[in-house]
Amino acid sequence: MPANFKNEDTDVKVESLLSAMSLDQKIGQMTQPERLSITPEEVRTFHIGSVLSGGGSCPGDNYPADWVDMNDAYWMASMTASDEQLAIPLLYGVDAIHGHANVLGATVFPHNIGLGASDDPELIERIGRATAREVLATGVDWTFAPTLAVARNDQWGRTYESFSEDPSIVTRYADRMVNGLQADLGEEAVIACAKHWVGDGGTLNGMDQGETKLSFEEMERLHIAPYVPAIKAGVLTVMVSFNSWNGDKCHGHNQLVTDVLKGRLGFEGFVISDWDGVDYLAEDYSEAIALSVNAGVDMFMVSVEWRTFIEHLKKHVVDGTVPIERINDAVRRILRVKVQFGLFDKPRPAQRSGSNSPCFGAREHRELAREAVRKSLVLLKNEQGLLPLSKQSRILVAGRNADNRGAQCGGFTVEWQGTVGNTAIEDGTSIWEGISSAAPAAELSIDGRAADAERHDVAIVVIGENPYAEGMGDIRSSDDLIVEAGSMIKGKIKVLEAYGSTLELARLHPQDLETMATISRQGIPVVCVLVSGRPLVVNAELARSRAFVAAWLPGSEGDGVSDVLFGDFDFQGRLSFSWPKHGEQHPNIGDPVYDPLFEYGYGLRYGP
Ligand code: BGC
Repeated sequence: MPANFKNEDTDVKVESLLSAMSLDQKIGQMTQPERLSITPEEVRTFHIGSVLSGGGSCPGDNYPADWVDMNDAYWMASMTASDEQLAIPLLYGVDAIHGHANVLGATVFPHNIGLGASDDPELIERIGRATAREVLATGVDWTFAPTLAVARNDQWGRTYESFSEDPSIVTRYADRMVNGLQADLGEEAVIACAKHWVGDGGTLNGMDQGETKLSFEEMERLHIAPYVPAIKAGVLTVMVSFNSWNGDKCHGHNQLVTDVLKGRLGFEGFVISDWDGVDYLAEDYSEAIALSVNAGVDMFMVSVEWRTFIEHLKKHVVDGTVPIERINDAVRRILRVKVQFGLFDKPRPAQRSGSNSPCFGAREHRELAREAVRKSLVLLKNEQGLLPLSKQSRILVAGRNADNRGAQCGGFTVEWQGTVGNTAIEDGTSIWEGISSAAPAAELSIDGRAADAERHDVAIVVIGENPYAEGMGDIRSSDDLIVEAGSMIKGKIKVLEAYGSTLELARLHPQDLETMATISRQGIPVVCVLVSGRPLVVNAELARSRAFVAAWLPGSEGDGVSDVLFGDFDFQGRLSFSWPKHGEQHPNIGDPVYDPLFEYGYGLRYGP
């Protein structure tokens, strides 16, 4: 059963809590600091409503028990009642955006771009459910997922968080992921968060946190559409986006947050800001806070400056710049979510049945992730039926990303920006490990120098991108673009150092092509497996390969790749992103002039 916001019992409970709360306690409920800048004692003193872990911010040794202990301490602090303090359980939030990948030993699922290629809504729901179980195993209640971005320009560093360039797949997945995560608000439920509202994937030049210039009709068709099924499915929270729309930032956008999201779409959960998102609304921090609260944002992710935030907001209420009705509305929404989710009925995290569950990183979840990998691979080229390979053939495996679980997992894995190599991704398999367990005679030579036509029948070369997250993954042809964006956007802009200046892999990572050349010069046929968060311009690499597979960011279960290369399973994936011919082309299905290298929906198979 989806969340039922029209529940009388909930209303009675919420109203009775609200009427007993002081202004301090109300403002505390609206505040979400980052764990590194708040102690349990401060949670109690300031009546804090929620704490989060930013990407890579992990307690203790970063195993589930460390997380349970941490959240237990925060929760206990929030539940210490006194004359000034009403016991209101704290919500803990994390980015479990492709499994609970911040935590060591988690099952890491393919990033959304790969799931989009699988075009399998039922799979999405099962992944949501497995992710929820792993989140619960760490005593955590809330994940900032699903991302419902419709990425329209592959230069965007968050393209891999998007299921598709076309709203149709994102729309078909939105409710399934919410249902998977929120699990009828029963024992296996965590709170989902649809993000980032709205137009995050539509920015000019794909600049993260940039400017989306569209008519309302286009905004609705492309970027608002996926939120409709998510809200129908009862998604309990929505995160506002850093981007601006026609010059005005979403964090201060009354029309988008209050009129459209809460009004027209009828969203009754609460709206959370993005990480310090309020900071960029105006030069003056205090003014920015009033703008955002009055626009309809209910809870504020304020990583470090939460005390200043609280002081300013209180002053605004006393001065009347922010009406108390707005505060009451925000707190009512937050409490409603807590009540609907059953947070008041749950025991402390250390005593919850899901906490420290052996399901965390368990075989069953890894099998599901492996299935998702198999289904997400897209076969772009297969000359003379080079694939599937025989497990008996003499195989050379090469390439920077061949034995690199970190690169396979991409950003938002253990660290915000992800990790390189195998160490931090416990218990999974690299693509090489998958191949070598299926074909024990296979040989690994990362730079391909061991290639020998006498000894090798075929080579599998695994190349692509290094991990990145958010703006650090942007491709920006020139820094002039920052100035251009700044001239269009009201408020401040925050731009991170870009990943590169081109989508062309041969220029981004020239060593990949060298590895391929070293091998193909010997006359050994090459199967190329591309590990990347987006389609890249790979004309040169395609020319060097007899077969070419887009593997996206498959996550911890690299053996899903060998399952398909050896023909134990057929390819199922189809492009949910159009593949560009050159770096200046950013094709999207439905464009008036549409001439990509591989069209949306393209994908070869072994069978009919
Ligand atoms: C990202 C969000 C994320 C938040 C918390 C922000 O930088 O934009 O997607 O949920 O950090 O980690």
